[in-house]
Amino acid sequence: MHVTTPPHRLLSSGHAMPLVGLGTFGSDRYGSDDVSAAVRTGIDVGYRLIDCASVYGNEAHIGLVLEEALAKRSREEFFVMSKVWNDAHSPQRAVASVERSLRDLRLDYLDAVFVHWPFPAAHPPKAETDARDPDATPYDHARYLGVWQALEGLVDRGLVRHLGTSNTTIPKLELLLRDARITPTLNEMELHPCFQQPELFRFCVDNSIQPVGYSPLGSPSRPERDRDPEDVIDLENPVVVEVAQAHGVHPAVICLAWAVTRGQVPIPFSVKREQLEANLRGALETVLSASDIDRLRGAERNARLIKGQVFLWQGAESWLELWDVDGTIPGHEGYAS
Ligand SMILES: NC(=O)c1ccc[n+]([C@@H]2O[C@H](COP(=O)([O-])OP(=O)(O)OC[C@H]3O[C@@H](n4cnc5c(N)ncnc54)[C@H](OP(=O)(O)O)[C@@H]3O)[C@@H](O)[C@H]2O)c1
Repeated sequence: MHVTTPPHRLLSSGHAMPLVGLGTFGSDRYGSDDVSAAVRTGIDVGYRLIDCASVYGNEAHIGLVLEEALAKRSREEFFVMSKVWNDAHSPQRAVASVERSLRDLRLDYLDAVFVHWPFPAAHPPKAETDARDPDATPYDHARYLGVWQALEGLVDRGLVRHLGTSNTTIPKLELLLRDARITPTLNEMELHPCFQQPELFRFCVDNSIQPVGYSPLGSPSRPERDRDPEDVIDLENPVVVEVAQAHGVHPAVICLAWAVTRGQVPIPFSVKREQLEANLRGALETVLSASDIDRLRGAERNARLIKGQVFLWQGAESWLELWDVDGTIPGHEGYAS
């Protein structure tokens, strides 16, 4: 299969973004060579949206693949995104991080840059979930805004086309929408049938922010540290399996077709050509009926897989405190008023 002109979603900026993208986090089990080879295969089968991040440690390898692809295809065909990691939460470091991503990815501009997490806790990649940064703090809006304003400067310089939030919440987005000169065009959030985040999803859509869904298959190969005995398995969820059987496809295809039909941009990962092809084709060609969508609403378990425990600060008791579940931001004075 080769999709020469993949269908697009129109962003609030007027730019187009492919309906489906390719993740590049190797879940600590696939190295840079495997992931960059997956990007090469992905481009070959038709993916044009690539979700990168400085912390994945593979942007230099992916850059070689992009350079190869751009020797044959126009830059405008692609939508390449990167993210600023938590160790770069100062204006200078955020700018340096994006400049490094641009160099590594061998690009003149990035289509989008996200602030990867809203917390400045400086834990290393692969840290265990009980690892704590003694200097970790709750969300600090002034500090976050400093990072955001530095990224706005990169948009002004033409180095970045869109800004995005990631792993954020409605209360934090409300503050950013109030204070940002350039508001977020995208929000990257965990989204799969067993974790639909309906309120945050609706808030994004209502504020012209395009949701990008990460771990769209329920991240079946995520690192051990991100696994909990109570976690659900989307690909085995009875509703997902039933709808897959009715369509004669793999449950993974239903997760992706559901994502596209609902309106988020899923960014599944795989290193396997068959899966890369099946995922893209299934996401774009499987037509779900209104009754399928209704049934899939019933797969919701409010089952967050990527909980973010490593961001907890001294005195915080539960990872739920990272997600503002009662509508307020811990430690953010005056938010409620
Ligand atoms: N912003 C953030 O904080 C954040 C967090 C997490 C992820 N992300 C992004 O989202 C991307 C995707 O998330 P993810 O990698 O966690 O999860 P995912 O895409 O839900 O799951 C990927 C895994 O699913 C399996 N798979 C893929 N296609 C399949 C198919 N057709 N049938 C059966 N199994 C299939 C593969 O496992 P095997 O390799 O074992 O075959 C693959 O490694 C990441 O790569 C990254 O770019 C962002």
